[in-house]
Amino acid sequence: MSTRAAQSLLLIGGTSEIGLSIVRRLARDAPVRPYLLGRDAAALERARAALGGEAAGVDVDLLDARALDTHAETIGRAFERRGGFDVVVLAVGVLGAQRGLDADSGEALAVMEVNFVGCGSLLLEAMRRLRAQGRPGTMLVLSSVAAERPRAGNAIYGAAKTGLDALAQGLADATAASGPRVLVVRPGFVKTRMTEGLPAAPFATTPEAVAEATVRALGAGRQTVWVPSGLRAIFTLLRHLPRPLYRRLPL
Ligand SMILES: NC(=O)c1ccc[n+]([C@@H]2O[C@H](COP(=O)([O-])OP(=O)(O)OC[C@H]3O[C@@H](n4cnc5c(N)ncnc54)[C@H](OP(=O)(O)O)[C@@H]3O)[C@@H](O)[C@H]2O)c1
Repeated sequence: MSTRAAQSLLLIGGTSEIGLSIVRRLARDAPVRPYLLGRDAAALERARAALGGEAAGVDVDLLDARALDTHAETIGRAFERRGGFDVVVLAVGVLGAQRGLDADSGEALAVMEVNFVGCGSLLLEAMRRLRAQGRPGTMLVLSSVAAERPRAGNAIYGAAKTGLDALAQGLADATAASGPRVLVVRPGFVKTRMTEGLPAAPFATTPEAVAEATVRALGAGRQTVWVPSGLRAIFTLLRHLPRPLYRRLPL
């Protein structure tokens, strides 16, 4: 058994397939002690049980990304119980509202509320706590390639992710000299329950591949990681295409 002190991890979105894959991948390198935050007690218990063999002393607590007035207290409680975290992973997100203007209005608002306002609030709370904890800490933010440029087929989710990604980059620059460190993760299409039933996009990948790339990027001190890595060049090109051409692409 390892004698190294366990890394304390906070997973916001404690049932996320990508988030849990990152926890498992980190646990391969060193002991980890995860703290899972989520809105469904039974699902959190299943996640805790599933991590049983790979992580000891898993804590869970309830959190709804849309209940903005609870964020400071819930994130604060997690930091106080653990005396801070080495790594915080923000993996909350909903896809929904894929029909754009024709999407149900409530669903469209929920996508924006969860992915930008809710996640933005959680990011701010976690960053404040990491900065105040008196020891180094890293914030991992699950953004998306969708944040790189809005597209017709994904306007609502893309806009919300663009907002979150921009907030994470700005906070990263604001804290570059003092910490906490921020790593923005931009996956393409990942085969998880979020994308279940959708036709796989080109370069579709897995939660395990996202976790592998994320942990490597952490070790290399990177600020952004694209998964798979080739999407960086593709999206840089797409970003600069003239709009009349861009809007005709089957994206
Ligand atoms: N899958 C992809 O293709 C893909 C690609 C790029 C980026 N991402 C991003 O990666 C992150 C993780 O996604 P995933 O693929 O792992 O999907 P997932 O398994 O569905 O994870 C999404 C997480 O968000 C949580 N969540 C949703 N609404 C919430 C709310 N109101 N309050 C609290 N938690 C809430 C879910 O909790 P419940 O279990 O309670 O629903 C779940 O833990 C997301 O930010 C997603 O946008 C995913």
